[in-house]
Amino acid sequence: MSMTLQQLHVENVKRSGAVVTKSLAGRAPKIAIVLGSGLGGLADRIEQAVTVPYAELPGFPVLTVQGHAGALVAGLLNGVPVIVLKGRKHFYETDDPYPLKTMVRTLRAVGVETLFLSNAAGSLRANIGVSQLMLITDHINFLGLNPLTGANDETFGPRFFGMSDAWDRALSAKVRAAADAAGVPLHSGVYMAFRGPSFETPAEIRMAQTWGADAVGMSSVPECLIARHGGLKVVGVSCITNMGAGLSEENLSHAHTLENASKGAADFERLVMAAVPLLAE
Ligand code: HPA
Repeated sequence: MSMTLQQLHVENVKRSGAVVTKSLAGRAPKIAIVLGSGLGGLADRIEQAVTVPYAELPGFPVLTVQGHAGALVAGLLNGVPVIVLKGRKHFYETDDPYPLKTMVRTLRAVGVETLFLSNAAGSLRANIGVSQLMLITDHINFLGLNPLTGANDETFGPRFFGMSDAWDRALSAKVRAAADAAGVPLHSGVYMAFRGPSFETPAEIRMAQTWGADAVGMSSVPECLIARHGGLKVVGVSCITNMGAGLSEENLSHAHTLENASKGAADFERLVMAAVPLLAE
């Protein structure tokens, strides 16, 4: 008997949930952290780490982009049980929303309540410089798609749902407090998602500026949407890897993104380490 895509998805979430639960060794993490391009180093700070390659998690993405390893790591971060996701599928790689849905819904299935998203992004503001961090206060979905279109499965969330507190204000305040305590400079602003894979044109960057965006990237918005649909709380940080196209002389490239993300990674790691105990309260 052949299954529909939706049935297969439900089955994948169940099976992946069972594999992840086994890797938790009895712990019950409430927080999951998605690591963006060049920010994978945080996973090395996890104690008592159990690593599960995505290949062992049915329905999880098969990754192709350099800088995205493709593994789930469960363990303790600064004493707090967490799940870290290294790598995800972007909408410049595929039109298929299911790999992302499977990831986020599997986290929910194993008891995660808060999703901490991170990404590499281009800055639209002269005062937000390369290798600095920006707390995401809100987003603009300019992907031209929403991963929740199509038939709705009520077991995962409601047909319609609000996005007015998508980037959770209370949790964001905790991340802000952690940044202050750890002495990590932290900007805040609106993240606008472009589909990619091309970087933006200077005209597109000017448009994004006038629309109220502070940074641009190619990720995190779909994860946020799927998480909010399922009732997870979301908080997030962008690591600025470049100025938006036309705002500086540099020619944008993925190599550049990875190089500058690794420069911001030390601050990012300190920030997350400090934030996790507050987020778990
Ligand atoms: N644009 C889109 N995505 C990005 C950028 C950018 O300038 N930098 C890192 N990811």
